[in-house]
Amino acid sequence: MSNLNIGIIIGSTRDARVGRQAAEYVYNIASKRDDLNFEIIDLKDYPLPFFNEAAPNGTLEVNDPIGKEWQAKIESLDGYIFIVAEYNGGIPGVLKNALDYTFTEWARKPAAYFAYGSLGGSRAVQQLRLVCNELHMAALRNAVYLQGVDFFSVMFGEKKIEECTYLEPLTIDMLDHLAWWTKTLKEGRDQIV
Ligand SMILES: Cc1cc2nc3c(=O)[nH]c(=O)nc-3n(C[C@H](O)[C@H](O)[C@H](O)COP(=O)(O)O)c2cc1C
Repeated sequence: MSNLNIGIIIGSTRDARVGRQAAEYVYNIASKRDDLNFEIIDLKDYPLPFFNEAAPNGTLEVNDPIGKEWQAKIESLDGYIFIVAEYNGGIPGVLKNALDYTFTEWARKPAAYFAYGSLGGSRAVQQLRLVCNELHMAALRNAVYLQGVDFFSVMFGEKKIEECTYLEPLTIDMLDHLAWWTKTLKEGRDQIV
């Protein structure tokens, strides 16, 4: 059993979302590893109001009770995989709102990405990397993109993500990189008192 914990964060909350299926796809591959523990973190379980705190986060403690729970969950993890949808060329507002509730909790930890959309969610990932960078995360180059006809087939329920067999080696490669960064940054954090 590893002592390193990775959150697979579902970044969309629509009832009809693809995000849940994508998270389960990544989890099913990832959980075969024994060097990292994985859990799915669903933003639906953290129904945060629009950020309305007294000060920018990282300056003052947040008051919202769900905000506190969300912060504690993020703090407890050693790395992250964002399941990212692309909404109008960017990340879903619900994900940005959740990110704005947090700051120090992500610091010096790695983030990888599984994205989907007609262009594979690549524009959302590019934006999310910048936000991760601002939150002191190590934003990995590695990401997996479900795109084009395959994305639409999954969205319309005509295909399971597992049927896009080329995605599995890409996901495994992304996880290998994430594992290296997770272990290396954990060692680094542990050396700092
Ligand atoms: C508000 C909205 C905006 C969207 N904009 C884009 C977009 O800019 N690029 C894209 O590839 N897909 C776009 N889509 C399609 C989404 O990629 C697709 O619906 C996806 O399943 C959304 O993720 P979700 O199902 O987890 O919510 C958009 C969907 C919504 C609901």
